Amino acid sequence: MADQARGPLVLQTVGLKKHFGGLQAVNGVDLDVPDGDLRAIIGPNGAGKTTLFNLITGDLPHDSGQIYFRGEEVSRLAPQDLCRRGIGRTFQVTSIFRRLTVLENVQTALLSHHRRHYDILRPARRLYRETALALLERVGLAGQAAKPSGILAHGDQPRRRYRPGGGADHPVHRARHGRRVRGGQAHHRPSSGRGDRRGDAPRGPGQPRGAAGVSRTPGGPGALMPLLEIRQIDTYYGDSHILFGLSLDVEKGEVVCLLGRNGAGKTTTLKSIIGLDPPRSGRIVVRGRELAGLSPYRIARLGIGYVPEERRVFGNLTVRENLEVARKTWGDGAGAAWTAERVFELFPHLRGLRDRRAGRLSGGEQQMLTIARTLMGNPDVLLLDEPSEGLAPLVVEMLGEQLGGLKRTGLTMIVAEQNIHFVSELGDRVYILEKGMVRYQGTMAEFLANEDVRRAHLAV
Ligand SMILES: Nc1ncnc2c1ncn2[C@@H]1O[C@H](COP(=O)(O)OP(=O)(O)O)[C@@H](O)[C@H]1O
Ligand SMILES: [Mg+2]
Repeated sequence: MADQARGPLVLQTVGLKKHFGGLQAVNGVDLDVPDGDLRAIIGPNGAGKTTLFNLITGDLPHDSGQIYFRGEEVSRLAPQDLCRRGIGRTFQVTSIFRRLTVLENVQTALLSHHRRHYDILRPARRLYRETALALLERVGLAGQAAKPSGILAHGDQPRRRYRPGGGADHPVHRARHGRRVRGGQAHHRPSSGRGDRRGDAPRGPGQPRGAAGVSRTPGGPGALMPLLEIRQIDTYYGDSHILFGLSLDVEKGEVVCLLGRNGAGKTTTLKSIIGLDPPRSGRIVVRGRELAGLSPYRIARLGIGYVPEERRVFGNLTVRENLEVARKTWGDGAGAAWTAERVFELFPHLRGLRDRRAGRLSGGEQQMLTIARTLMGNPDVLLLDEPSEGLAPLVVEMLGEQLGGLKRTGLTMIVAEQNIHFVSELGDRVYILEKGMVRYQGTMAEFLANEDVRRAHLAV
């Protein structure tokens, strides 16, 4: 293969190898990518996909083998040199400048690519404006250019993370999870049609509130006080009205699923609860205690554990250290206290990795560790934001079983998801959100039996 004519190949690897200690992460990978081609790299979690990317981009040095880009050997070049030659990438975990606008994020990358740090005659915000807008147009984000990038729904963020290596003519663009590659339109999730999500459609009380009706009257005769009660909350980001009079209840020991398309308001609901985006009106009450005005830290101390969509582990600490630093002794002592040992019983896979640095874990392993770490805070209610996102099917299955085990311990959970299959066994009840409102609620069994609801609100 090494001797094959390299003319038409834009990227080629020959016998690429990498090991971490005793683990052979990448073992002799030969990859040929002809110009203009789209290649998928498929494999279960831990198979070495991200490591292979890291070798190609020079983010990690390889042990042996060669990398050719447009026929030129680039095996030992630094990431920034590879980037300038035209190898761009996205990352599994989003990394954007949240306070800059979407447009400024792209301009920043262009400025750095062209080594233009300032221009004496023009403010930076005017430099590369047209090129940046053209790039945003290509990925369908031109309409969001002026917004602060922190406001994008998670699924929209990764598209701006590549390092531009040649303006709009980026020859190699690697992407994860079927996201856009070279002008293609593959998304791994159903799109809700960006731009029409909020603020522009009338949403009065006249709109249907769930075809199958509301199956349960919280607080009705004989009902216990819910562990968590959300009453008519309205949440905003700046001037943008995101949640509209949203109410939901969670009983002790229940697993409640928040379903809905990208941008429906699932993450915002969870952030409203944990106090990262507190509602402007309405009430959130946990065990009779109103949360208004409390900081996220205080809310966590009241027993709410939050596992955000983007996995958060301390990359330089080992698995065990990640768990130990998260250990808290607060709480009312009602729930059994979590220890690393107990966590390993639930996540046996993590036990074998306990001395590995968390930064070296695969995406699925990091997700397990993030959940495990949150458990170390002994929450009474666990909020999980799209835990299955981006994980391989086998890992999703394993995670589902582990969360099932967690449910059997009696832990109350709210799971935001787009993967219905993942929550179909785990969940007790379902709320479907759409444009920041509850459009349907019912038991999981009712929901699964109701194909109309799925078709109307979830595009499945
Ligand atoms: N910080 C923010 N500022 C402004 N708008 C935001 C912010 N975060 C999210 N949004 C918007 O709120 C809506 C709901 O988003 P989100 O709660 O992330 O949805 P989901 O989690 O269901 O995908 C989307 O239209 C999104 O663009
Ligand atoms: Mg979300």
